[in-house]
Amino acid sequence: VEPWRTAISTWDDRHIWIQGYDVAQLMASATFADIVFLLHKGRMPSEAERRLVDAMLIAVADHGPGSPSAAAARTVASGNRAAPEAAIAAGVLAIGDAHGGAGLACLQLISDAMTQSRASATDVTTIARRVVDEARAGNRRLPGIGHRTHTRDPRTGVLFELARTGGLAGDGIAFMVALEAAAAESIKPLPINVDGAIAAVLYDLGFPPAIGKLFFIIGRVAGLSAQVVEEYTRERAMRIKIPVAYDGPAPRELDSGKVGP
Ligand SMILES: CC(C)(COP(=O)(O)OP(=O)(O)OC[C@H]1O[C@@H](n2cnc3c(N)ncnc32)[C@H](O)[C@@H]1OP(=O)(O)O)[C@@H](O)C(=O)NCCC(=O)NCCS
Repeated sequence: VEPWRTAISTWDDRHIWIQGYDVAQLMASATFADIVFLLHKGRMPSEAERRLVDAMLIAVADHGPGSPSAAAARTVASGNRAAPEAAIAAGVLAIGDAHGGAGLACLQLISDAMTQSRASATDVTTIARRVVDEARAGNRRLPGIGHRTHTRDPRTGVLFELARTGGLAGDGIAFMVALEAAAAESIKPLPINVDGAIAAVLYDLGFPPAIGKLFFIIGRVAGLSAQVVEEYTRERAMRIKIPVAYDGPAPRELDSGKVGP
């Protein structure tokens, strides 16, 4: 039988090693952010990288029970009191392109734009303007900018500042800043949102596009678990009543002799 190949972790009867590091030593001296970085990158982070990874996980952990992921988790927890894992899974399934998942498309956008920029020796400002023009022409929304409530996302500035002071800011952040400026010129002021900021930082840390969405999930499960436990401990079962306005057919008789129209 062909063995499964992995370079992530291994074990023997008395040890577990993650990327070669003994888990017992990691438990004694590393942080969870270190392990997230180590699992994906195969090396321990620098102090500045650790701070940034931690800041990103904190940024996405929770923002209230009304967000789609938390609302889905609490709705399932309300009706299924015996399986917290089902409620958490429901919350994760609510993460997508409009909620928590724009990072994937944004990281891809940055990656494509930087490939174009290098191939044609074009500066990021020109590339960002081109990307905005193309989105306008195709009537598409650009991932990573715009927000329902914030005119300036409080999390973006913190992440960019940590990246800059840690010497980790690169093309990802430069491109997103240029994109925000280009969008303000030809669409309207659209602030870099947390998904866009995380995508920029992850690009500068050398992560591939898929991690754009996965990072949100890693951090958000912490918040979802608190939401589910609060639903179990503070609320009664089935307390959620969704207001519904029915506008389908009025009650009518089924003609037993007829199937279909
Ligand atoms: C977050 C978002 C859904 C907020 O949408 P919203 O509340 O409708 O935004 P606003 O009311 O401020 O702006 C609406 C207008 O600005 C434009 N606009 C908003 N975000 C835009 C974007 N990302 N790219 C291009 N245009 C955008 C819309 O086309 C819209 O114009 P219209 O009404 O003529 O169609 C939206 O900005 C978006 O889709 N962003 C991209 C996805 C994303 O990054 N999601 C993560 C959010 S944390």
